Amino acid sequence: MILVKTRKELKYQIQLTGNAGHVGFVPTMGALHRGHLTLVERAVAENPVVVVSIFVNPNQFNDPNDLARYPRNLEADLKLLEGTGCHFVFAPEVSEIYPEPDNRNFNFGELETVMEGKYRPGHFNGVAQVVSKLFDIVQPKRAYFGLKDFQQLAIIKSMVKQLCLPVEIVPCAIVREPGGLAMSSRNELLVPEDRKEANLIYKTLSQAVELVCKKSVKELEAWVTETINNSPVLTVEYFDIVDNETLLPINNWAEKNEKTGCIAVFCGNIRLIDNVRF
Ligand code: PAJ
Repeated sequence: MILVKTRKELKYQIQLTGNAGHVGFVPTMGALHRGHLTLVERAVAENPVVVVSIFVNPNQFNDPNDLARYPRNLEADLKLLEGTGCHFVFAPEVSEIYPEPDNRNFNFGELETVMEGKYRPGHFNGVAQVVSKLFDIVQPKRAYFGLKDFQQLAIIKSMVKQLCLPVEIVPCAIVREPGGLAMSSRNELLVPEDRKEANLIYKTLSQAVELVCKKSVKELEAWVTETINNSPVLTVEYFDIVDNETLLPINNWAEKNEKTGCIAVFCGNIRLIDNVRF
């Protein structure tokens, strides 16, 4: 496994492998956990060369405090990646990715105005800026993204279509902690009691799936919100049951399209997201 810091070096190293058209790519912001490693392991199983990027992208943080406290630990990340069989870790400085400010404005229509887009203005534009640059540097054949960031996946698919990029986007299942909490780098910031309490999020989502057809869509959304808000440390920002493709709210269960319930919850001052398929 080779650690690479610059674009030029990465392109050179990929050329050297003789497999330049067959790269599997996993973009991350580091503070790696089992969720990330599952993506990397899958990429290693499916591609002869795998690049993992570790880059805390300032352009996608709408809250400066969130950026400042985002966990960073390159040494520990490298140790974890050693065990996966990935070939290159690309960990650039901010100036390497943004030698000058990125002023591009993507337009994702309603995909970026709902849910995360509503509460984190500019977030998905920043995600698209960095992922499009990383795709340009790595030139992957396949790129792996977690379903935990359900809306991000829709945005990336839309970006790939808009830019006609020759990359296959591979969605990967959510990896959870034993208590059900979706793994996240931000979980590290939770004090132990809150981390335990945060299990209520997935517990409630799982119960909600059982209640489909016993309650209307709106009743179920209200039930999930109230159940989680009953915890002294959890506050729901939104819980929306949406169409998998358009991400627009579902009005009744009879609608044919696949549906996902997406949630954002503050646990103390740490913001967590999760989702469940209905
Ligand atoms: P990050 O939060 O580090 O996540 C990197 C990838 O790991 C994303 O595709 C995310 O969906 C996936 N992932 C995180 N937790 C997961 C879990 N519990 N189960 C399955 N997959 C999980 O998402 C980002 O970074 C950034 O926005 C990025 C795409 C790298 C652009 O900066």
